[in-house]
Amino acid sequence: MDKTIEKIVSLCKRRGFIFQSSEIYGGFGAVYDYGPLGIELKNNISQLWWQEMTQVHENIVGLDSGILMHPRTWEASGHVSEFHDPLVDCKQCKARYRADELIMNTEDTDWDQIICPKCGTTGKMTSPRQFNLMFETHVGPVEESSSIAYLRPETAQGIYVNYQLIQGAMRLKIPFGIAQIGKAFRNEIVARNFIFRTREFEQMEMQYFVRPGSDNYAMKEWKDKRFRFYPDRLGIDEDKLRFHEHGPDELAHYAKEAWDIEYEFPFGWAEVEGVHNRTDFDLVRHEEFSGKNLKYFDQQINERFLPFIIETSAGLNRTLLAVLANAYWEDTENNRTVMRFHPKIAPVKAVVCPLVKKDGLPEKARNIIDLLKPRYKVLYDQQGSIGKRYYRQDEAGTPFGITVDHQTIEDDTVTLRYRDTQHQDRVSIDKLLMAIDDNMT
Ligand code: GAP
Repeated sequence: MDKTIEKIVSLCKRRGFIFQSSEIYGGFGAVYDYGPLGIELKNNISQLWWQEMTQVHENIVGLDSGILMHPRTWEASGHVSEFHDPLVDCKQCKARYRADELIMNTEDTDWDQIICPKCGTTGKMTSPRQFNLMFETHVGPVEESSSIAYLRPETAQGIYVNYQLIQGAMRLKIPFGIAQIGKAFRNEIVARNFIFRTREFEQMEMQYFVRPGSDNYAMKEWKDKRFRFYPDRLGIDEDKLRFHEHGPDELAHYAKEAWDIEYEFPFGWAEVEGVHNRTDFDLVRHEEFSGKNLKYFDQQINERFLPFIIETSAGLNRTLLAVLANAYWEDTENNRTVMRFHPKIAPVKAVVCPLVKKDGLPEKARNIIDLLKPRYKVLYDQQGSIGKRYYRQDEAGTPFGITVDHQTIEDDTVTLRYRDTQHQDRVSIDKLLMAIDDNMT
């Protein structure tokens, strides 16, 4: 694993952001649990996305559909027949690889000469076989083929099968969008790079329904909007973001055109979000497999048609990893590690510290907590030296430190410390909320 990622993993565990699943049993592959700070950060990111979609855009509405869906959904979507990765095993050491990645990472194009990266043996790989990435389960008490159901590998299909009900209920006129945040599951062969590729993850997907013919325009519009989200809303450095267009051999089975928004992680450039022109592929297939008429009636032009769909599909966990990597800063001058989250997404906004545990300072600090907590997630900390308390919060990414000292008792002022610069101001308690508010946009 990359060194910086290793340090981030360790910080995430130490400070309660992210833990390996089921650690007391030795861990469970490629599943992670979000601790107290991790869930706050994740919620802050997903709320910004939700707000951007369903509040800023009046023509986009929300949905929360089930993880389990009628199994025919996945036949219609093409996931049963197409959602495969080619898999190979080393006969010598039993290590398992994705054939495409193994070839990509080797100089040799002759399959018989492929060397196993784990044990170093040449020519001992099995021929590639197709491995479906969907997790199967059984519904009801009997495990038989007719009871098979799948854990959804993308949230998009829940939107497609509900689109007519939503359009009718909300009297939506084209173009309109439906947004959803939820869990998705993929039995990834090679899971790696911490929370970058996991078997259980969350997607933030928006499907935008347009007239056929206006899809290219909508694609351009959404590509631009989605790119801007990362610097403008999450505070991610723009020079660490770029587009990658899918070539013909990379396109998913449903896409006519696809662009990845990539972030430069410590292990290299990699996708955080895909913007896809899915045409009417999914609706055509759902009409065919359900036997239902899924056409939209466009009153303006007096025509019935299947809308084309532009999809924006972001991984919440990958976005969070990009946010973590972007925020990570080793301040060598001051011998501290700082998570420089934008205050808007920081898990905790302020720590309130009484300088000493006596002389009425703890009570005064508690009053400040009461003042701030209706609006912001704040923490009370009286353990250890003030410097240690600040450094603990620097690692947690808390943007403001508020210290109550003896002068506070006299004149109702506190010190307000800024995480990144460590600069301190003397601020009157009744101006504290405003001082924090000013940094939230
Ligand atoms: N509905 C389209 C779709 O699912 P995708 O490119 O397969 O498209 C979209 O996935 C996003 O979901 C990716 O950009 C990534 O952020 C996230 N994602 C996909 N597989 C993932 C995995 N195994 N672990 C974490 N995130 C994943």
